[in-house]
Amino acid sequence: MPEPISPPADAAVPDANTANTTVNTTALQRFATLTREALHQGACQQVLLVAYQGGVPAIEEQGQGLQRVMVRPIALRGQPHLSFLLRFPTKDITKNLPQGEGLALIGQWLADGAFRNAHLFTATEEVQLAISKKGKASVRVGKLAGVAGGATSGAAASGAAGEDAPEPALAHNRDKHRLLELSRPFLRELGVTDAHGQIIPAMSRKWKQINKFIEVFSSAVARSSLAERRALHVVDFGSGKGYLTFAVHDWLRNTMGRDARVTGVELREDLVKLCQRVIGKLKLPGMDYEQGDVRHYHPADLDVVIALHACDIATDHAIHLGVRAGAEIILCSPCCHKEVRPQLLSPHPLRPILQHGIHQAQEAEMLTDGLRAMLLDAAGYDTQVFEFISLEHTNKNKMILAVKRRQPKDNAEVVRQIHDIKAFYGLQRQCLEELLKADGVLPA
Ligand SMILES: C[S@@+](CC[C@H](N)C(=O)[O-])C[C@H]1O[C@@H](n2cnc3c(N)ncnc32)[C@H](O)[C@@H]1O
Repeated sequence: MPEPISPPADAAVPDANTANTTVNTTALQRFATLTREALHQGACQQVLLVAYQGGVPAIEEQGQGLQRVMVRPIALRGQPHLSFLLRFPTKDITKNLPQGEGLALIGQWLADGAFRNAHLFTATEEVQLAISKKGKASVRVGKLAGVAGGATSGAAASGAAGEDAPEPALAHNRDKHRLLELSRPFLRELGVTDAHGQIIPAMSRKWKQINKFIEVFSSAVARSSLAERRALHVVDFGSGKGYLTFAVHDWLRNTMGRDARVTGVELREDLVKLCQRVIGKLKLPGMDYEQGDVRHYHPADLDVVIALHACDIATDHAIHLGVRAGAEIILCSPCCHKEVRPQLLSPHPLRPILQHGIHQAQEAEMLTDGLRAMLLDAAGYDTQVFEFISLEHTNKNKMILAVKRRQPKDNAEVVRQIHDIKAFYGLQRQCLEELLKADGVLPA
């Protein structure tokens, strides 16, 4: 592959105050600092450079029509690097640079006015740098849509609030800073958007759910060892009509430039055919949809397990499959908690509370998902249970997120706690526990 880009001769992070440029420098400095800090904290997911203005010979040599440059942190031979993906209409060109050189190159391009917009994405924030035609630049920091604390927060810094400075969209349009773009073709094929790329009103909740899910997913990837890898395989069990499956594929490949394989596994033949037809029509690389039952599925390899709204113990089977395959991330949103409730005793002094059917159902749900989280902890995962989208959007709103620990931890204490909780409620069996015991992951 020809050398598409090369860092400036003095490969230090440029001090924007001394850069030889017509672009206002305070905002550049601010953007460079925020990017460097995010990288050092391990929080940086991507830097996106858009609205190429021309004038960089090394880019021009590669062809016309550069659409965007996606930059993401990687580790090469244990050293921090930046992977640059230059997207042209008919090809992608990738180049990896040591982190310092990569930062210097970004700083140089921006100081030269080669791009009008730059975006720094972390799991929770987007920092936007906008450069006007006259070289005036401004920086805004906004919370990503759906992240607790509101969709946007105030401007962090403004290098030039000049009248011709382009106004970043953060404060004005929530959709503009979602991680997915409404114009993506899969949204049209799945009936989320219409022919003009507008949300079909009945699908607005689904759109929010998809975006929130991608936010959670992106933050999990950033925390896992997958952050340092380019290739990964995601399997979505009980993938239904594929809203999340296609969204994950699109985010990984199109937004993040990852070499991702994404497989949907679904019981219903009609849904499998529908999704296969969309994959064929859009010619999506690295994506497939299979008819299968999570209870008997044996993947060759996988890195991420997703199981959203897989009914009852299908969630346990999906988690188990992920643990057995050594998945780095297991993400599930359980529903239909049928297994535990009939076994549930009403132990003293909870009897007066659990005499009500609704409380029994709530207790059974909390118990089931609490035990799943503890079992994942015992199996070597850092696990969180949280509400992933507010109740106004769907009543299936709980997420269990497990990221594989890098260092092993003694599980004796959590195994004892699981035993005590089961004894307290008189539980005889829990599907995930039985599956993990049968595998020898937990003591019999
Ligand atoms: C409520 S839908 C959720 C679809 C999708 N995950 C979402 O959140 O949009 C549950 C899906 O799981 C599928 N399913 C149920 N049991 C399954 C199993 N044992 N193996 C594979 N798929 C299953 C159902 O056919 C259904 O399409």
